[in-house]
Amino acid sequence: MSTTSDRVFFFDTTLRDGEQSPGCTMHHEEKLRFAHQLGALGVDIIEAGFPIASDGDFASVQAIAREVRGPRIAALARCKTGDIERAARAVEGAGSNRIHTFIASSDLHLEAKLRITRQQALDQTGECVRLAKTYTEDVEFSAEDATRSDREFLVQMVEIAIAAGATTINLPDTVGYSTPAEYRAMFESMCARFSGAKDVIFSTHCHDDLGLAVINTVSGVEGGARQVEVSMHGIGERAGNAALEEVAALFKIRHDQYPFSNNLKMDEIGATSKMLDGIISFAPSPNKAIVGKNAFAHASGIHQHGMLANPLTYEIMKPAIFGVDANTIVLGKHSGRRALEHRLKELGFDLNKDEVEQTYTRFTALADRKKNIYDQDIVALVPQSVS
Ligand code: KIV
Ligand code: ZN
Repeated sequence: MSTTSDRVFFFDTTLRDGEQSPGCTMHHEEKLRFAHQLGALGVDIIEAGFPIASDGDFASVQAIAREVRGPRIAALARCKTGDIERAARAVEGAGSNRIHTFIASSDLHLEAKLRITRQQALDQTGECVRLAKTYTEDVEFSAEDATRSDREFLVQMVEIAIAAGATTINLPDTVGYSTPAEYRAMFESMCARFSGAKDVIFSTHCHDDLGLAVINTVSGVEGGARQVEVSMHGIGERAGNAALEEVAALFKIRHDQYPFSNNLKMDEIGATSKMLDGIISFAPSPNKAIVGKNAFAHASGIHQHGMLANPLTYEIMKPAIFGVDANTIVLGKHSGRRALEHRLKELGFDLNKDEVEQTYTRFTALADRKKNIYDQDIVALVPQSVS
């Protein structure tokens, strides 16, 4: 188990877990274009899809495998012969590929969904990893619903997967139920248990049902995981997955707390986000960290004053780091004189103190009536003698 290295591998599942969520379906050409952008962003592994799901998904994974160079291309497969064979065919043209196979490990899933015994699940695990291994050296095994599974049974399953040749073991918090302390502790104990398996790395995969996907992900890394499964904007089943941009930002901005390295080109995050925006049917919420429209916007007078004096007062990081649009001073009813004066200067008006005061009085009256103030509104407020 290589927990001693500080290198964290970014496994992007926007095109698989992300695409599975409502409003996020993508066409073939869109998936391909986005996969190229993920290559530019520098993710280590692209989970390109679930080839058994449809002919269209198979074709997309196959095209990505044939065209996109740089990241390893992974395809998802249940622990079933047909799934694995189809995944193998889809990724065979890749520069480097991976088969990602999974089976549930919690009693709830085994009984209610798969209707198999624990022993059958263990047998399938070994058989499927061995089968996947005949197609590629790189096999990832996921124990679905790991965080709600009996720990000793989970250990048995992981032991079998590793013995059969899996080199990445993913322990997903499939339903977003775990807490950071629990998730970290699970990795600590599993990494200790499998410390002899030198070529194996453990992976996080967190869902956001309780809003904990990002913190659980980084807690898993603190516990010894060295792969994070994330998606752009955090899109994914239900409340989504851990957002790539948030995990990456945390590692970058709080490197003092999270001293890990990765291969990401941080300033490609903005372009990747914009591309996703143009493909799926919804934008990230405006207050979404890093990529939301308001993530670097300042509307209140006190904050605007601070920002104009020294951006560090209210910004812990520069938007340029992520290639997202520069900070914006948004004028509205909470704005102060300094912000208005600043915008007037940007618009080419160098007003004296009285003129600024006159314009400001008109501006506050307008802002009380109008929710969005545009530059043309401000120009119209400038005293006639100046304009
Ligand atoms: O959430 C989950 O458990 C998954 C697996 C298929 C890895 O998406
Ligand atoms: Zn998932």
